[in-house]
Amino acid sequence: MIVHENYSLKKLNTFGIGASARYFAELSSIDGFREILSDKQFIDKQKLVLGGGSNILFTKNFDGIVLKNNLKGIKIIKETDDYCFIKASAGEVWHQFVMYCVTNNYAGLENLSLIPGNVGASPMQNIGAYGVEIKDCFYELEALHIADNTIHTFTNAGCKFGYRESVFKYEYRNQFVIISVTYQLRKKPLFNTSYGAIEKELEKMGIKEPSIQAISRAVCNIRSSKLPDPAKIGNAGSFFKNPEITGIKYSLLKQKFPEAVSYPLANGNVKLAAGWLIEQCGWKGKIVGDAGVHKLQALVLVNYNNATGNEIYELSQKIMDSVKEKFDVDLEREVNII
Ligand code: FAD
Ligand code: EPU
Repeated sequence: MIVHENYSLKKLNTFGIGASARYFAELSSIDGFREILSDKQFIDKQKLVLGGGSNILFTKNFDGIVLKNNLKGIKIIKETDDYCFIKASAGEVWHQFVMYCVTNNYAGLENLSLIPGNVGASPMQNIGAYGVEIKDCFYELEALHIADNTIHTFTNAGCKFGYRESVFKYEYRNQFVIISVTYQLRKKPLFNTSYGAIEKELEKMGIKEPSIQAISRAVCNIRSSKLPDPAKIGNAGSFFKNPEITGIKYSLLKQKFPEAVSYPLANGNVKLAAGWLIEQCGWKGKIVGDAGVHKLQALVLVNYNNATGNEIYELSQKIMDSVKEKFDVDLEREVNII
């Protein structure tokens, strides 16, 4: 196994931030992970597991060892009349895995087409889009405990999934390497086209009867028209979560800002569209040095050229401050800050 020193991470994070890792290794076997995790040289060093780098902002060089997860393989492990259980290794590219399911008529993940990153990170923040979250068809995952090299299995309940949350993002942060994820896909599809733009897009495509493939294509079309391509402009998707406020706070806000974009939640709270809040504060399309707020989607911060992680971070702080001042709402960063 090769361990690089002072290794550039610029091409390994979609923000394109020029940070480096004190040590860096790419692992394509579980034994490889075990070997490095028990190596005396690295035992006391900080560890960072890296997938596709599409939800990370480096604000400094990483002074430990970055472990790039390159475990590969997709396997059907069980079938019933209604379901197919598919186990994908953590280093598989998420969209390619979704395409495998879509092509083979296994339903459940089609609304999550074209999300960047790898399978291993999908449970980290319970990735979601267009009315679906992975928790809706997640079965279980296997993870290697960094401290003692044992393999643990986590069920859906054990992952404590929430909106952009799981046990791995908070409680067990940096304690496990996710090595594989098993999804339970439907053989008889249950389409979710409730997210407004999907139906409109299917209509535009001339599709009368939805199919797994058509929904996947519709989602890809919508995403490509709205979100910046990280290969062209550095970004990590939504930089903040959509904030949740109480019903009482929402009524007060609505009196002052009747046009506020919001979604009622089952618990009586209300989710606000952070993109709307940010746009109303005048940030949409703003450029500060090489950092900026995307001109089509105010929730996405971008690196136009050579912004540092700190410039992006400082911009995010200014946005949070102005949303707090104007609306008395606290934004929370969604991106993992290193
Ligand atoms: P990384 O950025 O490499 O890592 C993210 C975090 O997970 C880090 O803390 C890392 O240490 C940890 N991690 C990664 N792999 C493992 C592992 N195997 N074991 C343990 N920890 C691990 N997200 C959504 O939810 N919905 C969207 O619609 C969406 N759209 C996006 C659009 C764009 C253009 C971009 C750039 C990003 C978008 N994202 C979206 C965010 C991102 O794609 C997801 O969060 C994705 O799952 C990150 O995967 P990754 O492999 O790149 O993770
Ligand atoms: N809006 C504005 N101005 C903007 C952006 C949005 O007013 O600049 C308002 C519009 O009214 C729009 C609404 O906000 O209709 C919602 O916008 P959009 O449909 O683009 O979705 P979002 O809430 O901004 C969320 C996720 C995305 C996911 C999309 C689609 C979060 C933090 N973001 O964005 O996930 O792809 O919905 O489901 O929940 C990500 O996590 O990285 C990500 C891209």
